[in-house]
Amino acid sequence: MTSVPQRTLQLGDVAPDFKAETTMGLIKFHEWLDGSWCIFFSHPKDFTPVCTTELGYTAKLAPEFKKKNTKPIALSVNDLETHLKWIKDINETQKTEVNFPMIADHNKEVANLYGMIHPQASDTTTVRSVFIIDPAKKIRLSLTYPAATGRNFNEILRALHALQLTDRHLVATPVNWEKGEDCIILPSITDPKELKNLFPKGYKEIKPYLRTTPDPTL
Ligand code: BEZ
Repeated sequence: MTSVPQRTLQLGDVAPDFKAETTMGLIKFHEWLDGSWCIFFSHPKDFTPVCTTELGYTAKLAPEFKKKNTKPIALSVNDLETHLKWIKDINETQKTEVNFPMIADHNKEVANLYGMIHPQASDTTTVRSVFIIDPAKKIRLSLTYPAATGRNFNEILRALHALQLTDRHLVATPVNWEKGEDCIILPSITDPKELKNLFPKGYKEIKPYLRTTPDPTL
């Protein structure tokens, strides 16, 4: 396995494949994805407070991820035994059950493959990376937070929902969009017949390039 990427992973890249030991057994990443969406996220290290809350919250979101055909998988640069001890603490303190795999990346191979170690921040721990990967194994969204700032997993879920919506319908989502709110019609669609067929609920034209339509999933 290559340990250092040639360049930073970018949107549209195929998520690199790897084999790794996890809290749910050895996985071959691409095989494990098995046509699902995936939230792949890193934690600086085990037995850290912010990560404890993030992992507990992600476990609680399991039904939401399941509805969206999405598998979460975490990574931390500790060994399997340490992960298993930490998960007991997470379950106890966050009143949940961690129900997704955590990669035991003690040699940092996967972290390096995904550019999760930023040496100017720390050369021993990962930053808080998130990759949303689609069923074609492509990276569709990435974000990076520093170690001391916990991520907003409601936002990650919201962005996942928006990605899935914009894949199925020819819309985009405006600022702060939430499920059920008006969407934006792609500027490339201009033919009146096509507009009528695609958006039977109608649309508002605020400017020729700014047209809104009700959430097509309602
Ligand atoms: C953590 O909980 O992961 C953490 C908190 C403060 C600084 C760095 C990491």
